[in-house]
Amino acid sequence: MVFGVDSPTDQQVSQAEFTLHVNGEEHAVRVDTRVTLLDVLRDRLGLTGTKKGCDQGACGACTVHVDGKRVLSCLTLAAQCQDRQVTTIEGVGDEETPHPLQSAFLQHDGFQCGYCTPGQIMSALALLEEGRAGSADEIREYMSGNICRCGAYQNIVSAIQQVAGDRGAAL
Ligand code: FES
Ligand code: FES
Repeated sequence: MVFGVDSPTDQQVSQAEFTLHVNGEEHAVRVDTRVTLLDVLRDRLGLTGTKKGCDQGACGACTVHVDGKRVLSCLTLAAQCQDRQVTTIEGVGDEETPHPLQSAFLQHDGFQCGYCTPGQIMSALALLEEGRAGSADEIREYMSGNICRCGAYQNIVSAIQQVAGDRGAAL
């Protein structure tokens, strides 16, 4: 026997109203408390640079920073991000003023289709801040949550190594 499950009515769905801080801008949002940060970024705020791949925490395409730490936005509730600073790929750089890591990805062909690239870059930025870019093996280990179906892994590692090396030289 199959039991039907009634959809919750609007009254039964819990809503949250708060300010979301994204890339230095404030956004007043009112959302179902079950909505993910990924869906709010893409569907409410139009920040489609953050990609939805698996939507279940397995691919890394949705990686953003919350208070400077990398998180999977498909596994993070938007309501959890109240009073926290969210950074997406749009806040990292743009065509006119790319971040050195974005330039390095271009220089080293660190992508093909580009779908995974925003997540790769957000993870790589965090990895550099975490001081975990000491060797190619270390980079591979700490980037292992970011899947690239095009197989651009070697070039991604090269791009990160270049930026890590440039930072080391600047110290
Ligand atoms: Fe979030 Fe795949 S979309 S980990
Ligand atoms: Fe296509 Fe990574 S560049 S999935």
